[in-house]
Amino acid sequence: PKKTVVGPLVGAVVQGTNSTPLLVFSSKTADLLSHHQVELTEAFPREGWVEQDPKEILQSVYERIERTCQKLAELHIDVSNIKATGVSNQRETTVIWDKLTGEPLYNAVVWLDLRTQPTLENLSKKIPGNNNFVKSKTGLPLSTYFSAVKLRWILDNVRQVQKAVEEGRALFGTIDSWLIWGLTGGVNGRVHCTDVTNASRTMLFNIHSLEWDKELCDFFDIPMDILPNVWSSSDIYGRIQAGSLEGLPISGCLGDQSAALVGQLCFQEGQAKNTYSTSCFLLCNTGHKCVFSEHGLLTTVAYKLGRDKPVCYALEGSVGIAGAVICWLRDNLGIINTSEEIETLAKDVGTSYGCYFVPAFSGLYAPYWETSARGIICGLTQFTSKNHIAFAALESVCFQTREILDAINYDCGIPLSHLQVDGAMTNNRILMQLQADILHLPVIKPSMPETTALGAATAAGAAEGVGVWSLKPEDLSIKARESEIRYSTWKKAVRKSMGWVTTQYPESGDPTIFSC
Ligand code: G3P
Repeated sequence: PKKTVVGPLVGAVVQGTNSTPLLVFSSKTADLLSHHQVELTEAFPREGWVEQDPKEILQSVYERIERTCQKLAELHIDVSNIKATGVSNQRETTVIWDKLTGEPLYNAVVWLDLRTQPTLENLSKKIPGNNNFVKSKTGLPLSTYFSAVKLRWILDNVRQVQKAVEEGRALFGTIDSWLIWGLTGGVNGRVHCTDVTNASRTMLFNIHSLEWDKELCDFFDIPMDILPNVWSSSDIYGRIQAGSLEGLPISGCLGDQSAALVGQLCFQEGQAKNTYSTSCFLLCNTGHKCVFSEHGLLTTVAYKLGRDKPVCYALEGSVGIAGAVICWLRDNLGIINTSEEIETLAKDVGTSYGCYFVPAFSGLYAPYWETSARGIICGLTQFTSKNHIAFAALESVCFQTREILDAINYDCGIPLSHLQVDGAMTNNRILMQLQADILHLPVIKPSMPETTALGAATAAGAAEGVGVWSLKPEDLSIKARESEIRYSTWKKAVRKSMGWVTTQYPESGDPTIFSC
């Protein structure tokens, strides 16, 4: 059959916490030509622990590559049209592997994992000088969220990792490093690298000098020789060494939230995007300035699109549980069968009838950083139904976003005029309308919703151009007043969610390993 002429294409591997899609875009029009996704397993071996199998993650990428190439063949598109691929990934998740065998030495400790609470308490006691020591270098608060604390826990608790470090065999990386290492040939290629956005989430990286920081490594007691080389977000890191895309350069790498910022074309200072997935991440571009938050936000590297290009920073507000609250209603309470059903339930009542749901399942992230918090549903009466709880769950996502947006407005001094949104949950029209009402701002969604992939592809090639739709807040002043009152009651509910955890997680145990 005749081949379809498509021009140069760019691929994007989007390795998220729950799935690994591979997308292929036209580099001229940013049209999406192929999209395949595979779900991933997570293990919860103990209360607060979240792990994944690094080999399953890598395998999921290979599988996606093969399925995508098959799909392109069905469309009569020659895979040789794909000129480059980018990688974007869940950030902070920590992998450690053996550079001689290429085998993981422990499961990936996922960013949501809370086991390091005691490790963190010990570290807090030995902070040198002032409490700002870590934040002033990294832009991050000391929290279980970031890689350095997870790595410290692994080094303290996993014998085979200790041995590999002593013998000079251990390598550390976030998921991007692990994937690039694997895709470029593993022990045969030995490409051990990361990009500035991912490095900035480890808590070992100095966001001013853009280098690993010796004082931070000493503080966390991390040997510097296990750290990857840090590159810009747009560079040729290596070439794929196996499968249908063998020889293809990997030339873009960004943490997923940075990738979404790039994919939303938020290149101007003051532009912000919010991604609604399992969690919510609101990033506001602060240009070449490193703005330090006084209101519980993180300062992070937004992107550096080329070796000689300047670095851009962002203020970030991370909400731990967003879409995950809907999965919880589906999987744990069974009040919906599919995630989409929540929209119908919520729509039927159009209010939470005084019910508030604070889904602090893994503590509270920005702007509170309160690991002692746990989820609560309050304001219940005999009249409360599952519909009201569904509505309150959606509202919780919007209130959490409002808290972040308020913090960004305080820190930047210039209020945002609109919010660009993306992520699977933005298909929920009720959620988006509620969000516009609670923020009193238009929310703007691109017509091509795969912005994370587009960002990775943009870094890898030169994709550009996305159309948009926008949803304005309903102009009724009564709605605005109502939502302000509800917002202040929400804050009361948040205060009630704090201080629930009084017991400590066991620091060590006998960790089971997925595959090694
Ligand atoms: O910081 C964690 C974040 O990168 C994970 O994103 O989309 O996999 O929930 P996601």
